[in-house]
Order: sequence, then C-alpha cells, then structure tokens
Amino acid sequence: MKIEENISLKPYNTFGIDVKARFFVEITSLLQLQKVLDLKAYPERFILGGGSNLLLTKDIETLVLYINLKGINVIEETSEHVIVKAMAGENWHGLVLWCLDQGFGGLENLSLIPGNVGTAPIQNIGAYGVELKDVFERCTAMEVATGELIEFDSEACQFGYRDSIFKNKQKGKYIITSVNFRLTKSNHLLNTAYGAIETELKQKEVVYPTIQDISKAVITIRRSKLPDPNEIGNSGSFFKNPVVGKKVVQRIQKDFPEVPFYEVDGEKYKIPAGWLIEKCGFKGKRFGDAGVHEKQALVLVNHGEASGEEILALAMSIQNEVKKQFKIEIQPEVNIIK
Ligand code: EPU
Repeated sequence: MKIEENISLKPYNTFGIDVKARFFVEITSLLQLQKVLDLKAYPERFILGGGSNLLLTKDIETLVLYINLKGINVIEETSEHVIVKAMAGENWHGLVLWCLDQGFGGLENLSLIPGNVGTAPIQNIGAYGVELKDVFERCTAMEVATGELIEFDSEACQFGYRDSIFKNKQKGKYIITSVNFRLTKSNHLLNTAYGAIETELKQKEVVYPTIQDISKAVITIRRSKLPDPNEIGNSGSFFKNPVVGKKVVQRIQKDFPEVPFYEVDGEKYKIPAGWLIEKCGFKGKRFGDAGVHEKQALVLVNHGEASGEEILALAMSIQNEVKKQFKIEIQPEVNIIK
C-alpha cells in the first residue's frame, strides 16, 4: 500500500477539474481498506469512487481513498433469477455489458451511465424508467469508525429520487464495498414505456425487443443528448428535477401551456429542470470554459480548463435565475465539495 502525495485529481473526476489530493491511496482489497482506516496519521479521509457525480472546487487536504475494488460474480442462481455481486470499483457500464453478455436482464435501461458500482446506490442512479432500487438486492459497506463490514438491504438504504441514507443520516459513515443485484435469466421485465425508447425501437423497426435492443436504444438516446465525459467534462444532470404541487404546474401553464411535467404521486409533479433552465436562456451558453450543454440544459460542462469554482458560480446563477423567473428552487444532484 503506497500513500502518494500531491496527486492531480483531474483523471479521477468526470468534470475534469484539476485540483490536487495532498495524500492519495488506491484501495484494491478489503484488508487494505481496513488497514488504511486504522492509520492514526490520517484521521480524516475523502472517499473517491468513479468521480462521476462530483464537483471539486478546491484541493483535498485529507487522505483521498480511491476505491478500486474489482470483481463480478454470480453468487446465487435459480432457473429464473440470479444474484450478481459486483465490487465497488467496477465501472458501471462495464457491469451492464457483462450482465447483457450473460443474458441477465434488469440493468439494460441503465446503460452508459458514467461512474462506478459503489457510488450507484448513494444517489439511486436512474434513467429511462428504471432506478437502481428496482434491481438492488443488498450492498455491503465498511463502517469507517470500526472497519466492520455491514449489510444494507433495500429498506435500510431508504432509497428516494436520486437519494439514499448514504447521502443523509449515514453520510460519511460507510464506504460501500460491493453491491448485489437481483436480475432475471428469463421472462425479462422489459421497460420500454419511456417515450424516447419507444420512438427509438420503432425507428429501428424492433417489434419484440430483447434486453440487448433496449440497451442499444438507451445508448443511442444518451449519445444523442448527453456529452461523453471522455470528450467534454461533465457530471450528467447537475440538478434534480424539482417536485412541485399542482398549483405550481398550473401557474406555469398560464404562461407556458407546453410545460412538460410528470406525475410523481397523486399530488406531486416533477417539472424537468432542463426545461426551466432552457427557458431562462442558458442552454448552450458558455462563460469562459464553464458552460451549459447545447443539447440538454440540465448538464453543466467543462469546455477545458474551467475551475470547480467557475462551474459552481454558473450553477448558482442558474439557480437564481430559475428562482426569479419561475419561483422554483432547483437543487444540485451533484456532490459539491466546497
Ligand atoms: N427538456 C428541455 N430542455 C432541455 C432538456 C430537457 O426542454 O434542455 C425537456 C425535454 O424536452 C423533455 C423533458 O425535459 O420533455 C425531460 O428531458 P429528458 O428526457 O432528457 O430527461 P430529464 O428529466 O432532463 C432525467 C434524469 C437523467 C436521465 C433522464 C432519462 C434527473 C435529474 N435526470 O433527465 O439522468 O438520463 O431523465 O431518464 O432526473 C443523470 O442523473 O445524470 C441523468 C442524466
């Protein structure tokens, strides 16, 4: 185990922000993780996974633990289902492709989401009608204070929209080391209801889609709208879609009858933050190297050398403008390190 000093974190965050870690260690085994947590010289740590939901605005002065635990295995199997266990450092899309190769269904709608397995439950990643919680069986996490491994089932994780207990009550207390997924071997529950998937399958003239067809459709849709972090720095959706009451929707409809909205439950509705931001005139705008993606206003981008502070300043002016024009507060979904 080697503790390095003054390491640039640019390759470790998908926004491509160039800040430094004063101390940095790559974790490749559970034993190593336990040992590092025991080091008295580094009482504070910063846990880094895939770095895909993260905005770094300054150097990290504590020890950065880069969680790079690897391995994907089937740990239980019946004629219809499998439980797949993936270690936290596995690339998310790599896991999706591995499952598709084995013919396991459940993750196809979540194709091409940047990031690693270990951070997926923290914000209950979701796309195109499916959320992680729909396929989640349990996860194992190491308690930072004791080095003990503890299991969390779905209920214990308290999943919500881009939310879980690891973002709230248990924030910073656990390091997720692996996640178990409950997937189908046959009779896959295909989820094609999301408008863009239906359109894409129709265009390809696919009548009876397979899990592979759905994955391909999702990949095509994502590539057409969302910037590839390998080409342009970004963290996916920067904000959550605000959940509002019916009165708010009706108020906005008076000026904008076309406003898109989705029912969450009988009383609450989600309005796409991307639509609100576009209406405020930010779509495709650029302020130095910090910008708003030209095809999806919910995504902030780093055109090259933007600092975390510049991205944050842009995010705050977007928040203010949306509040001014629509009287709605939009909240970041990205973890901002100030
Ligand atoms: N819209 C606009 N302008 C924009 C962007 C969107 O008018 O610039 C409108 C679209 O026309 C559409 C609606 O907003 O009517 C919804 O757009 P989209 O289908 O792209 O979905 P979203 O609500 O903007 C959410 C997730 C995405 C996920 C997609 C698909 C959040 C915060 N984001 O975006 O997740 O891929 O749905 O399921 O819930 C991510 O979390 O990083 C992410 C990309």
